[in-house]
Amino acid sequence: MMRDEGRPPEADDGWGAESCEPRATTVAAVAHDLNNVLSVMSACIEILDARSQICPEEISDLRLATAHAAELTAWLARAAQGTMTEPCGADLSGAVRARAGLLRRVLAGRGELHLDLDPRSGPVSLDEHALARLLMNLVLNARDALADSGRVEVRTRGPSVRSTRPGLAALTVHDTGHGMDRTTLKRAFEPRFTTKRSGSGLGLCSVRDLVTAAGGEVSAESHPGAGTTITCWLPAPAKGAVGR
Ligand SMILES: Nc1ncnc2c1ncn2[C@@H]1O[C@H](COP(=O)(O)OP(=O)(O)OP(=O)(O)O)[C@@H](O)[C@H]1O
Ligand SMILES: [Mg+2]
Repeated sequence: MMRDEGRPPEADDGWGAESCEPRATTVAAVAHDLNNVLSVMSACIEILDARSQICPEEISDLRLATAHAAELTAWLARAAQGTMTEPCGADLSGAVRARAGLLRRVLAGRGELHLDLDPRSGPVSLDEHALARLLMNLVLNARDALADSGRVEVRTRGPSVRSTRPGLAALTVHDTGHGMDRTTLKRAFEPRFTTKRSGSGLGLCSVRDLVTAAGGEVSAESHPGAGTTITCWLPAPAKGAVGR
């Protein structure tokens, strides 16, 4: 019988033997423990908020980011248990507006954030946390593409019969960064494709997965030296879906 000498048969590192996916039980356990860590962070945020008058905006963004992280761990746990439900019903422009402060911090002085939000963007077939994941991934990529200055614009548009995708709302992130050549653009949404030294190549692929699972589609335009525009086209929530 052949055996990999480098790895004792009893070793269990939490990864499936034949797959590059971690075991569901490992994911659930890590999600659970991450939630414990987040509980400590939340408690500290509330103490800071109660005891000091400084940085109220930062504390509020920290609370929002921690709540988002807690929702992501709950999501991981549901995925590991195979009990995912289709999230839906968030107001598109409202979700962007609520995260403007966080997005500005993500840019961290590298570029200016501009918002162009359609007040009639309406609800879409994703929840707030999924929209936050889209925004984070797209704005982080935009930040990485900017040299030391530049502009990132987050735009929303409600469904319009005149749009190239009638009936779908649009969430667009445009940057004035270094852009992509044709080969990079073609591969950008592939899982684990990255041109960054410390990238995982999972950002755009999870954006595409979230949007297609919601019944939408993603379009991307980019040219070397001329920036990048990525649009998530999202349908309205199914009838009866509750807004969150
Ligand atoms: N706004 C952008 N401008 C220029 N290139 C981009 C932009 N967004 C994505 N890319 C290219 O697409 C690749 C894949 O992006 P993706 O978000 O999937 O992974 P990543 O950013 O490399 O890593 P991670 O998101 O896991 O940190 C990037 O490495 C980069 O080459
Ligand atoms: Mg990325």
